[in-house]
Amino acid sequence: MGNVLTEMGELDPAIKCYRRAVEIKPDYAEAYSSLGIVLKSKFELDTALYEHLKKAFKIQSDPVNAIIDEKNNLQNNRDLEAARDSLEKAVRIKPTLAEARHLLASINGKTPKSAPKAYVKELFDEYAPKFEQSLVRALEYNAPKELAKIITAKQPIEALGSVLDLGCGTGLAGVELKQFCSNLEGIDLSNAMIEQARSKNVYDRLTQSDILDYLSTAELDFDYFIATDVFIYVGELTNVFHLIKSRNKRKGHLAFSTEHTERESFFLETSGRYSHSLSYIEGLCKKIDCRISHFTKTDLRKEKDGFLVGGLYVVDF
Ligand SMILES: C[S@@+](CC[C@H](N)C(=O)[O-])C[C@H]1O[C@@H](n2cnc3c(N)ncnc32)[C@H](O)[C@@H]1O
Repeated sequence: MGNVLTEMGELDPAIKCYRRAVEIKPDYAEAYSSLGIVLKSKFELDTALYEHLKKAFKIQSDPVNAIIDEKNNLQNNRDLEAARDSLEKAVRIKPTLAEARHLLASINGKTPKSAPKAYVKELFDEYAPKFEQSLVRALEYNAPKELAKIITAKQPIEALGSVLDLGCGTGLAGVELKQFCSNLEGIDLSNAMIEQARSKNVYDRLTQSDILDYLSTAELDFDYFIATDVFIYVGELTNVFHLIKSRNKRKGHLAFSTEHTERESFFLETSGRYSHSLSYIEGLCKKIDCRISHFTKTDLRKEKDGFLVGGLYVVDF
């Protein structure tokens, strides 16, 4: 009977049927196995997952954002145990849910090498329309302006040459740099962020791509690579440095910001973003044979009652 119901797509009655069967005959292995298969397939159906998560989180939105919102709410209330519980539940229901795994790692003090692309893309596709309002106006985010000041002070005016904005987002750095560039290109994972950047009319070319994919395959012939508030999602930077050093056709510079940490290395914070230390960047430069020509700390953006400490770097390749 359970099998017939499963074939008809009547999963709930089928589950009831299998449960009843194993109650009556606790060693009925076939019924257990069928029950497992149906439960698994039920939770792999997006709508089923959605309903389950809605119940689990008591939230009326899509599952991925429900998890992230719930985790953020709980975390903002410093209820990390409850956040961990929600995320573990989500990972149990759908083990492939990369977003939840990443956020769970952040709460558990683990540092995977980078944030999952699907998580970053989804986050910024959703965030794009309100990005500038919330980051620049509400959180006083200023890294593109600060970094533009640093690199233009190093050069005679209009002499930045050809520039690639890695993780260009809505184009805040592009607006600051356009007048100093002979060519300005941008790449970003998020289509919605790219569309915002396109509307600013400052980039000669915009491409939807992951940074490492692009650096590994595209022709690289740039004077400056810019990355403001992007490495907080990239984490491990060895490949970024290595690809620029080995594949860029001319000598160039990488100007970037970090969330700064005084700990060794790089670290996945409970915010789900990475911080990087000066000693980590110094170590990379030694390994890849490049040189830090600028480092200062800055107020990156508001968080809770104060400002997050950021690092502003220029590395010469
Ligand atoms: C916080 S926003 C910063 C945007 C912009 N650089 C600025 O300063 O306003 C981070 C951006 O990096 C992009 N991003 C993060 N990881 C990326 C990756 N691996 N490849 C391409 N873009 C990425 C995101 O999609 C997002 O648009």
